[in-house]
Amino acid sequence: KKKITTQTFLQMKKNGQKIAMITAYDAQTAEIADESGIPSILVGDSLGMVVLGYETTLQVTMEDMLHHCKAVARGSKNALLVGDLPFLSYQVSLEEAVRNSGRLLQEGGMHAVKLEGGRERADAVRAIVSTGIPVMGHLGLTPQSVNKFGGFGVQANTAAAAQRLLEDALILQQSGCFSIVLESIPARLAELVSKRLDIPTIGIGAGAGCDGQVLVSPDLLGLFSRFTPRFVKKYANLHQDIQKAFSAYLLDVQNGVFPGVENSYEMSDVEWEETLR
Ligand code: KIV
Ligand code: NA
Repeated sequence: KKKITTQTFLQMKKNGQKIAMITAYDAQTAEIADESGIPSILVGDSLGMVVLGYETTLQVTMEDMLHHCKAVARGSKNALLVGDLPFLSYQVSLEEAVRNSGRLLQEGGMHAVKLEGGRERADAVRAIVSTGIPVMGHLGLTPQSVNKFGGFGVQANTAAAAQRLLEDALILQQSGCFSIVLESIPARLAELVSKRLDIPTIGIGAGAGCDGQVLVSPDLLGLFSRFTPRFVKKYANLHQDIQKAFSAYLLDVQNGVFPGVENSYEMSDVEWEETLR
């Protein structure tokens, strides 16, 4: 199997091949994603909500991201690894944006970084890309701005906001992004943006007209069950499966059924006689 690069992404769009992406936060999940042939893994700052128990993504730090990026990098062989720049790691200054992007590659083992925002982030994108670090954009529902939006609802559903989003997408492409995530926007807007851009769009809650799709793995596995957005399709029900397994284990321990002989170690009769002497 060949290593996936940002060039593969561009080629896949040209060939009309849909790009599947999944999030991962640990080595084991990354390994399974890689085995499944999923071409790209995102270590998203959704980490904060689905793994670390934070209320939003705003609490996620560079140290949190690096810790989990390293784990994913150890588990993955061929996938293009994209790491999210956490809140406040790229907005304060271009220097910090470049430094923190570099850390996600140098220390975290990522191949590219992702940041949220449109025209207001164009300078940061240019600075990071000029360092040789590929950047993925993220438009529409950008969760680091949840306090501004007042919730996690659909974005860009007025003509003015839709036009602005299309402009932002073109600006991001112009600034050097190799791909853009479109989150929670009307399907026909996402399709239009995808047609206008040369770089691939990766949708989440943005309909089937995108060049690729991304889902948060604990969502698609039915593991994260605090809430389920409309755009999530559950391919498994791991929350229920794990709960059943834990309950069965609990009962076995309480009833003395576990461990059985088959789960236990023994020593030879000779050694045992000697022990008791
Ligand atoms: O953090 C994340 O998982 C993301 C995806 C939802 C695109 O940004
Ligand atoms: Na994110």
